[in-house]
Amino acid sequence: MNFWANTPCDVMEKDLLRSTSLNKQEIDELIGHAVSLKAKQKAGEDHHPLQGKTLGMLFEKPSTRTRVSFEIGMVQLGGHALYMSSRDTQLSRSESIEDTARVLSRYLDGMVIRTFSQKTLETYAHYTAIPVINGLTDLLHPCQILSDLMTIVEKKGGYQGLNIVYVGDGNNIANSWINASLTLGLNLRLACPQGYGPDRTIVEKAQSEAPARIQFFDDPFEAAHSADIINTDTWVSMGQEDGREERIKTFQRYQVNSSLLAVAKQDVMVMHCLPAHRGEEITDEVADGKHAIIFDQAENRLHMQKSILETFLVHSRQEH
Ligand code: CP
Ligand code: NVA
Repeated sequence: MNFWANTPCDVMEKDLLRSTSLNKQEIDELIGHAVSLKAKQKAGEDHHPLQGKTLGMLFEKPSTRTRVSFEIGMVQLGGHALYMSSRDTQLSRSESIEDTARVLSRYLDGMVIRTFSQKTLETYAHYTAIPVINGLTDLLHPCQILSDLMTIVEKKGGYQGLNIVYVGDGNNIANSWINASLTLGLNLRLACPQGYGPDRTIVEKAQSEAPARIQFFDDPFEAAHSADIINTDTWVSMGQEDGREERIKTFQRYQVNSSLLAVAKQDVMVMHCLPAHRGEEITDEVADGKHAIIFDQAENRLHMQKSILETFLVHSRQEH
């Protein structure tokens, strides 16, 4: 697969609700196109395939990276983005999701939604004719994992054969890594505390389809042994604030620190989707150290969002 020179692919699905709706070729082409859009932007070349198009961004949770990268991405592609906090819409006064979706679908060319339940996202997608993109749910964060794969491809030349490790909470990021590993044939090892593992259905699928490639550990040191990539994320995701104290106590052993890096490969790269809670899931020493690639990773959100936007707003199977 040539990741370096690509045009947007035609994707089969209208929406990007979960990465499992994409096949390997579609993921590789999204990465390839993101890499070429990044090169174009660095060279100062204009590229405006979304002229005249408007993206609606309906967010029920806070965001820095996802919001800004989609908004700026839309502008750079010649289109327009409209941010809507659900608090400021009639959703806050009980208008139904179904009616909101039907109405927004008449104005917009695509939507990014950040919400709690995956079911809510799916309801929006069902009642709109326009592409709906998952900007994070409690279950999944596919756009994050697509841009993380782009970063791995840039840094390592590809993703195949690498030992990719995830240490910490079995949350939306962990779930999306498992899904991507199922589609792409990645070697993935996860270490999460008992009772804080990834989604049961996703784990069962991994255990039945790829038990040798996708492995689950209690011990973070066992999982991180010979790692090429170590990923982590917050111990307290948005919406879980009530359980914060208990979580902080339970997760102490799962911190990404220099002792954990010592069992990985010498050139291990450390990834974090951000926001980081320094001193909790990752130490300053690691986050600011030579192994961390977290800010390149954050930058690539922009380039991958542009690839996703061009692909889904122009090349996806739309139902108008
Ligand atoms: N990684 C990520 O999704 O960051 P935001 O919550 O800032 O969008
Ligand atoms: N797991 C985190 C990711 C934030 C980008 C959360 O859902 O809050």
